Amino acid sequence: MESSLMSVQTAAIFLTLFSQCVNGKDCVCELNNLQGPFPTDKLNTVYNDASQCSKSIISTELTELDSLMLGLQRRLEQLEESLSVLEKEDDGDLYGAVSLRIIELELAEILELMEKLNNTMTFNMELSELTTNKLKSMSKNMKELETYDISQVVSKERENLRMKRALAECQKELEATPPPPTRRPGHCPQGQFINMEGPRTYTLNPYGTSYPYGAWGKDPKPALGKEDMYWLVVLTSSNVYANYITHYSSWSTLMVNVGPTYSYISSSNPTTNTIQGPNVVMYGDALYYNCYYTASVCRFNVTDKSVTNTPLPKTASFNNKAPFGHLDAAYTYTDLDLATDESGVWVIYTTTENFGNVVLSEVTQGVPPSLGRTWQTSLHKRAATNTFMICGVLYATRFVDKDKEEIFYSFDTVTKEERYDLKIQIKKTQTNIQYLNYNPRDRLLYAFSDAYMVTYDTVYQ
Ligand SMILES: *[C@@H]1O[C@H](CO)[C@@H](O)[C@H](O)[C@H]1NC(C)=O
Ligand SMILES: *[C@@H]1O[C@H](CO)[C@@H](O)[C@H](O)[C@H]1NC(C)=O
Repeated sequence: MESSLMSVQTAAIFLTLFSQCVNGKDCVCELNNLQGPFPTDKLNTVYNDASQCSKSIISTELTELDSLMLGLQRRLEQLEESLSVLEKEDDGDLYGAVSLRIIELELAEILELMEKLNNTMTFNMELSELTTNKLKSMSKNMKELETYDISQVVSKERENLRMKRALAECQKELEATPPPPTRRPGHCPQGQFINMEGPRTYTLNPYGTSYPYGAWGKDPKPALGKEDMYWLVVLTSSNVYANYITHYSSWSTLMVNVGPTYSYISSSNPTTNTIQGPNVVMYGDALYYNCYYTASVCRFNVTDKSVTNTPLPKTASFNNKAPFGHLDAAYTYTDLDLATDESGVWVIYTTTENFGNVVLSEVTQGVPPSLGRTWQTSLHKRAATNTFMICGVLYATRFVDKDKEEIFYSFDTVTKEERYDLKIQIKKTQTNIQYLNYNPRDRLLYAFSDAYMVTYDTVYQ
């Protein structure tokens, strides 16, 4: 009651109204707005400021802090491990000295991470101060603007927008077909794969940033005594070819590039039977890969250094004819993607017969290896950035933006069901992912991303 009385009084102050009747027939009405026109510019500025504020705070800063914290946490765990190893080994000989050196290097990396964290936090503090000031000025501006809102234009407009949105949503619900079954695909004994968490670890590959293409991981079916080993293949020639595998005895030695050993497929590169393309895997102490200039899967036996192979169908694409990619990049020579899961080794490729769509084959472990069951899918290979297998289900990723990759597709080899509606996000530390593979032994997803080696945890329901 009181407030409506006020607004009538306010209106009387700001508006003057003249009305008179001319010759008893036409009425003339003159309206003078003493307050001047409504400052739309000011309002737009406030709106823009508000949306900018929330964007800059939410999207970039929090994810960066998140991954730094995760990295730091992992490094501290490693340090603790290495320290306990040192304690056991400290008999004053050379072995202890090597461990000490590793610990020194780990400490240096931790300090570097902490400095980065400190910088990010300082930056965030400055940002939040900046934001507070912006908010103060915005609220001052809004108060000023409200004095113009005598006839409640803004609030009515807002109300209208709300109603329009509600109406649209109502319409959508009416038109929507029944939702797809919520059951996720999968037959894992540990439950259904539902999410990807991490990065759990990330580190630059020992060869440095000039080598964006590579592959790494742990053998899911390691030879006796090689359970802790890591393997690494970096495409050191033209980002396409490699002729050897680098082995590390443990996580710590991989991190600091200490004591690597090498398994050479050939002394020259590239040549017959050497590696072409990044998507290779180790399984049962052998490397499975696309061999140089042929449409076949080669297997390099690390023990006796022999190479055997199994050809793909005649219509299979190779030599960079059907690589993975997205709008801004093609991942060169990714025609063949090898993958491991609980049941063994798989190869993902395309054939002209299947119109460039993905074909999936089992690689059986005989001597020589051969192709087992094969499935044709409707997934266009160039629409995916990579693929991997978990518990007999093929998953494909696509590029969303520089911070996010999305697992959007699945093909279940048991039910043959294809899904395009998976929305499982992978947080990236670098823009592009050139290699992805799942290790059924530690249930981690291994990625090679613009020269960085990254792992993610798989989460099950
Ligand atoms: C964090 O950064 C501030 C200023 O940038 C500096 O004064 C401070 O010593 C740093 N702290 C650590 C632990 O590095
Ligand atoms: C690798 O070679 C060794 C020695 O010849 C053999 O025992 C082993 O079965 C081979 N592994 C594969 C996967 O063929």
